[in-house]
Amino acid sequence: MPSDNISLKSKKITARLPFLYLFILFAFIGCVNKQSQVEAQFGKGDKMSKKILVAYGSFAGSTAETAVFIGKKLSEKGMTADVKPVEKIKTIEGYDAVIIGSAVEMGKLKGSVIRFTEKNKAALTKVPVAIFVVCLTMQKDTPENRKTVSAYLDPIKAIVKPVGEGLFPGRIRYKDIPFPQSILTLMPAFKKAVPEGDWMNWGAVEAWVGEVEGKM
Ligand SMILES: Cc1cc2nc3c(=O)[nH]c(=O)nc-3n(C[C@H](O)[C@H](O)[C@H](O)COP(=O)(O)O)c2cc1C
Repeated sequence: MPSDNISLKSKKITARLPFLYLFILFAFIGCVNKQSQVEAQFGKGDKMSKKILVAYGSFAGSTAETAVFIGKKLSEKGMTADVKPVEKIKTIEGYDAVIIGSAVEMGKLKGSVIRFTEKNKAALTKVPVAIFVVCLTMQKDTPENRKTVSAYLDPIKAIVKPVGEGLFPGRIRYKDIPFPQSILTLMPAFKKAVPEGDWMNWGAVEAWVGEVEGKM
């Protein structure tokens, strides 16, 4: 009977649902890109040196790499730096200054970075805060692009008044783009509009660290 067949099929599907949920869960866990969750510590950590938190949000790793580079450069200037993804920061107590950085996707900062800033608003008003953004619009450092990219930072600037802002070009490597955005890389139109390339500008990042370190 057809109705018996249908109920047999729906029973089979129901029995498989837990496996489907598990598959989705593991796929999701697997999609958290390790390069975007790097933690690092730089400097001697002695009581005399300033302690800086470099908090960042990254999708595919280039913002994480920029944050690590900033931490390293700060330590070369005698500071102690903790570099952490915002998702792993419980408190910002104990830091003399905070640097907040984010990647951009579809014209927006990473949501977790905005939530981190909002959640720690009270503590962030007591210490100097510098902010930076990593994106592809900065491939060409023009006044128009600076204006566009500076506006990406508006959600953070609405919460804290930064002592400096860094606008840096980033990188596109399809294999690093996490799910679900990675689906876009299957589309020829996306590949044409957003080709792979590395525009990271370490000289610009280092110069910016030199600019803001005196304000922290
Ligand atoms: C799906 C997608 C959307 C993006 N949207 C923008 C955008 O709107 N503006 C921009 O300047 N860059 C955009 N980019 C470029 C990223 O900001 C750039 O690759 C950056 O280096 C990513 O940082 P991350 O590696 O830390 O995730 C986009 C990249 C991807 C993969």
